[in-house]
Amino acid sequence: MQPIENLLRERISLRRFADCPLNQGDVDWIVEGAMRAPTAGNMMLYSMILITDPIKKQVLSETCDHQPFIAKAPLVVAFLADYQRWFDYYRNSNVNAYCLERGLEFCGPDEADLLLACSDALIAAQNAVIAAESRGIGSCYIGDIMENYERHRELLNLPAWVFPVALLCFGYYPEGERPAPRSRFDRKYIAFAEQYQRFNPEGLNEMLAARAAAFTPANPYGAQNYGQWMYARKTGAPFSAEMARSVREALKNWKGDRIRMNNHVDELDEGLTNVWEPRVSEDASSVPKWWRVLEIMRKELSRPSFETWIAPLRPVHLEGELCLYCQNLFQKDWAESRYKQSLERAVLAVMPDIRGITFTLEKTVEQ
Ligand SMILES: Cc1cc2nc3c(=O)[nH]c(=O)nc-3n(C[C@H](O)[C@H](O)[C@H](O)COP(=O)(O)O)c2cc1C
Repeated sequence: MQPIENLLRERISLRRFADCPLNQGDVDWIVEGAMRAPTAGNMMLYSMILITDPIKKQVLSETCDHQPFIAKAPLVVAFLADYQRWFDYYRNSNVNAYCLERGLEFCGPDEADLLLACSDALIAAQNAVIAAESRGIGSCYIGDIMENYERHRELLNLPAWVFPVALLCFGYYPEGERPAPRSRFDRKYIAFAEQYQRFNPEGLNEMLAARAAAFTPANPYGAQNYGQWMYARKTGAPFSAEMARSVREALKNWKGDRIRMNNHVDELDEGLTNVWEPRVSEDASSVPKWWRVLEIMRKELSRPSFETWIAPLRPVHLEGELCLYCQNLFQKDWAESRYKQSLERAVLAVMPDIRGITFTLEKTVEQ
């Protein structure tokens, strides 16, 4: 273990790695370090995907702005802003019905939720960087994972409310190789007392003087000064335009759209935008009635049976029938074989206009 002062002062972004895999203990330590990071509301609004598959790494090295070293990193970890887990849980918990009963709207995550989840993911990522460094493992962030949203979504099997905000490459430092730390701007430009400070042109020139000294007018961008050169290489570069397009596409899923009763079924199949558009006619008033059905069933069954097999069912009123969505095949088979008749009786008692009930397998992320 290195003292933390050395570790922070000597860390660099490592782009050439020793040619050997990380040992499992070190991988576990990196994951544990990430998971010990602070997290908003202790909700852990992030996930990590550990990638060692050479083909996947090769694809990422191309989709992340053609950076071949990604394919050579022994371990690549995608850090994902993740609200899917919580909203799946909210839906499992019948939050929709809860909201309907109280005249509230049940809305999916919005832009603020995305920013909060990104904060969580990035803080976890940086903890992973420090944990890795403490074991002699270097790392490099890849911001370009925010590009090519559609391809990454497919490659990593991401549902609608998961956004890949950072990729980290990890690998041991090559024997005897420790690149020197890169300079930073002077502290006075970055850390202010009490209020924000904006700089005049002289101040900004001073801040960038050392870097601008390396500027040469003979550059491929036709830039005439360091500011133009940086803009051409970074902010105005084609990769930035792709990132903007890609993020805009992803943002379409983070508009806080109202969640309807029947559209939890298949956001993945429908593509990721407008995922909450209803596909079948919906009778919202069936929900409080469903609660009355639940009350009848609750009285008939033991608590574990009720909570395991009946409470998780999600009703959708479909053209005179009540379709009950089940979370997995096992639940469907069990509920259908054991409780169909009693459920039918309860449903008819509360909703005499219903012709019958059907059990349907819900398509979830895992299937
Ligand atoms: C959000 C973020 C995105 C980055 N994306 C890339 C990248 O795509 N490719 C790369 O080689 N380095 C990337 N880096 C590493 C930076 O280039 C590096 O941190 C910076 O040049 C300072 O160097 P240092 O980390 O060695 O101090 C990224 C860093 C951050 C924080």
